[in-house]
Amino acid sequence: MRPMIRFENIQKRFGNELVLKGVNLTINEGEFVAVIGASGGGKTTLIRTVNGFVVPSAGNVYVNEQRVDYANLGNLRQLRKNVGMIYQLFNLVERTSAMHNVLTGTLGSKDKALDIILSAIGYFSKSDRKKAMEILDFVGLKDKAGARVDMISGGQKQRVAIARALMQDPTVLLADEPIANLDPKTSQRILDLLHKVNQERNITVVTVIHHFHMVKDYFSRVIAMKDGQVAFDGDPLLLEKQEALESIYGGQFEEELAVAA
Ligand SMILES: Nc1ncnc2c1ncn2[C@@H]1O[C@H](COP(=O)(O)OP(=O)(O)OP(=O)(O)O)[C@@H](O)[C@H]1O
Ligand SMILES: [Mg+2]
Repeated sequence: MRPMIRFENIQKRFGNELVLKGVNLTINEGEFVAVIGASGGGKTTLIRTVNGFVVPSAGNVYVNEQRVDYANLGNLRQLRKNVGMIYQLFNLVERTSAMHNVLTGTLGSKDKALDIILSAIGYFSKSDRKKAMEILDFVGLKDKAGARVDMISGGQKQRVAIARALMQDPTVLLADEPIANLDPKTSQRILDLLHKVNQERNITVVTVIHHFHMVKDYFSRVIAMKDGQVAFDGDPLLLEKQEALESIYGGQFEEELAVAA
């Protein structure tokens, strides 16, 4: 097994608060991993160190066995091409088409000035358009290619966001609560799609998720963050016992149960 993401004693300080307190973890190539834990535990901060949106205060992150050099713009650019990201609120351009949003996913991988300018004014090559259409088909949205994003459902928006991330051929896909704004049925379909991305495209997927009952159904490895540290790392079935969950979610445990019900 080849390590795809390695956190080596990662610390992050915001002001006086140490929000990551020395995280050590290895996620191997091809893994499908869930990150859970109470609000404020450091989940978002941790995964953002992987694409350089958060710079650790100490420690090192390695992606594909290369140390992330946060001060090196070329290195960060390459990193963001390799590491795709999707979000709870989709982060799409609402007033343009699904297709256009997907095409903007190629921007990070263009290095010729002319290509960047042409893309910025909405001109994309035939091969980019063909690829975008293939990816829209892969995420099940071929018939919505021309639809404006503000006219499609939340689940469809998340599919567009996944398609946009896939345009850059990432080796890693990070997802920060991708189903938090979706109903249970739609959430399952999005997790099915993330699983398909993982299996069929061999992309390592790390997703922050709040619904523990879904974690059990979809993931064989779950990492629980609590107060800036890894509180659990393993098979979710071993976490199922009430005391174990309570120790991770603390006072928020009742809330989690309510969500699961
Ligand atoms: N840019 C920032 N500036 C200052 N403090 C921050 C910043 N980002 C996060 N924090 C703090 O770091 C801690 C961890 O936040 P983080 O967003 O990583 O938690 P989380 O586990 O993702 O929580 P949630 O489940 O609510 O999304 C929190 O106390 C938060 O207030
Ligand atoms: Mg978060």
